[in-house]
Amino acid sequence: MSPTIERDVPAEELGHVRSGHLPARYDHRLQDVFLTQLDRLMRPGVRILDVGSGRAPTIPPADRPAGCRYVGTDIDADELAAAPPGSYDLEVAADATKPLPIDERFDVILSWQVLEHVDSMASSLSAFHAALDDGGTLVAQLSGSRAAFALLSRAMPHRLRVLAMTRLLGHADEEKFPTRYDACTDKELRALLGQWSKVEIIPFYRGGSYFLFSRPLLRAYLAYENTIARRDVRALATHYLVVATR
Ligand SMILES: C[S@@+](CC[C@H](N)C(=O)[O-])C[C@H]1O[C@@H](n2cnc3c(N)ncnc32)[C@H](O)[C@@H]1O
Repeated sequence: MSPTIERDVPAEELGHVRSGHLPARYDHRLQDVFLTQLDRLMRPGVRILDVGSGRAPTIPPADRPAGCRYVGTDIDADELAAAPPGSYDLEVAADATKPLPIDERFDVILSWQVLEHVDSMASSLSAFHAALDDGGTLVAQLSGSRAAFALLSRAMPHRLRVLAMTRLLGHADEEKFPTRYDACTDKELRALLGQWSKVEIIPFYRGGSYFLFSRPLLRAYLAYENTIARRDVRALATHYLVVATR
């Protein structure tokens, strides 16, 4: 997935939807659902912490409201250093599972495809809770631990997973970070978010793009995914969008 989230870009899968190879739920980007949630929170002077932002901030500087403070944090200082100049007001190399090592509070914490990489979801959510002001909101998108692609990747050594994703799916290898999938299910997330004042978890059933390299495999996978999508079996969702208010 692309780091900085550009607006007004059609879904990569749209051609496959039009040709009938993917169902209609693939006709928009997960990024757009994420941005819709974020847009509701944007106002002049908003203080944003982008967790696991790495080499490109999730919201590019040109899309931020006037007076916005934008802090980027990542466990890997080299990833932050690779971001274009002016990406962040402050860069903090820090592990999301640990208390934030700066004395600042935020109105919004956002995290795009990072929480499946952390060793402890409980510690990360508790660090986010502490770094938000009262009424502040966490908007986090993550992959589900019971998605077919997650189960496959968990069964493979990391290097083999990177090889498969670069050779079969054409992903860039510098985008591939080791995954942990700790508590990445609807039920586990809800249990850990018990102390937050408002919690919404939106499930997605969108793993088909991992199987586009083989039509028979894609068809078999979609027969399964269409069933769990129709029944809204949240435990098996491929991705979750968490919107939680402190
Ligand atoms: C898949 S990338 C996502 C980066 C960016 N948000 C994007 O959309 O491209 C995962 C990022 O999470 C960072 N990361 C992994 N574990 C982390 C942790 N425990 N704390 C903070 N960042 C972490 C990685 O260094 C990497 O930059």
